Amino acid sequence: MKNKSGQKRIYLIGFMTSGKTTLGKILANVLGWDFYDLDKVIEEEQKMAVHEIFTNKGEEFFRNYEVEKLKELSEKEYVVISLGGGTPTNDFVIDFINQNGFVIYLTVKPENLYKRLKNKIDRPLFRDLVLSENIAEEEFTKKISALLSAREKFYKKADLEISSDATRIGKTVDFIARKLHGVIDEKT
Ligand code: S3P
Repeated sequence: MKNKSGQKRIYLIGFMTSGKTTLGKILANVLGWDFYDLDKVIEEEQKMAVHEIFTNKGEEFFRNYEVEKLKELSEKEYVVISLGGGTPTNDFVIDFINQNGFVIYLTVKPENLYKRLKNKIDRPLFRDLVLSENIAEEEFTKKISALLSAREKFYKKADLEISSDATRIGKTVDFIARKLHGVIDEKT
């Protein structure tokens, strides 16, 4: 792990359905910090679900908007922020969050991502696949793997990587909290 003491922000990154929001809320609670879910902040401001923003305003609008919101939220201190799966998948954002806080990558195997994504219609990138009736598990998993491989070079720049395959979330939070000792600013 890089030497990064005194951090006042934790960023959670990873593929869709990797548990960033669920884990982020609990972690923030444990630390006594505030929690922000980037997608949620955007949905509240835009008064639309993310998939509606994609349809009505286009993906490019969403991508620019999420970076602007991320910069804004990053002015806060003692915060846990969960990003969208696509937010840190460019050089600017991954470098920005690495400079502004401690970055945790939640990994999930493609076969488990398939199980979590196969019935979800709120993720615009997979919505059409979920809604198409004849999609085979193998083909769906292949598409997940392809997107994950393209994104991993960014995700892997995180300070800490932790598997989110298992369901015992309490254990994961304990593990992260131990790793954060000496890394975050514990004056709060
Ligand atoms: C996206 C992930 C979503 C959301 C949008 C795009 C992506 O967030 O930002 O649908 O490109 O991976 P979650 O990772 O919270 O599902």
